[in-house]
Amino acid sequence: MVQVTPLLLMLSLALVTPSLSSRQCVLTGKWTNDLGSSMTIGAVNGKGEFTGSYHTAVTATTNEPTVSPLQGSQHRTNQKGQPTFGFTVNWNFSDSITVFTGQCFVDKNGKEVLKTMWLLRSRVENMKDDWKATRVGTNVFVRLQPQKE
Ligand code: BTN
Repeated sequence: MVQVTPLLLMLSLALVTPSLSSRQCVLTGKWTNDLGSSMTIGAVNGKGEFTGSYHTAVTATTNEPTVSPLQGSQHRTNQKGQPTFGFTVNWNFSDSITVFTGQCFVDKNGKEVLKTMWLLRSRVENMKDDWKATRVGTNVFVRLQPQKE
């Protein structure tokens, strides 16, 4: 009978389990952010492009939010595992557009986190109101349904 020493066991585990920092962060799936908004990102194609849908929990308008389409792309150097990305949400219940830019990280517990910044452009009637038409902020997204390993 072959004796497996604890040291040998630990060594073989280290070889088969990728380290947390080398795990890939994948944009595809369902996400929620610190405002309670949710979004679904579809498959990322060979060019790094993706589409999806966004349901915001908050609005700068008096309208009731409805699910709006998003379009984006992630950087092609995604083999490194923590890609940068950007996407645009074309709100279908207001005249506004939001652009998000961010990076898909794997944290120290192996959890995927999207750290983003956004610009929300609202429509104004006159050019003289342009100065107040853009809001800026940050959002942190985590997965709604964790991916299976
Ligand atoms: C609008 O109010 O005209 C459209 C909705 C804007 C929602 C913003 S986008 C940035 C921030 N993050 C969210 O999840 N919702 C707000």
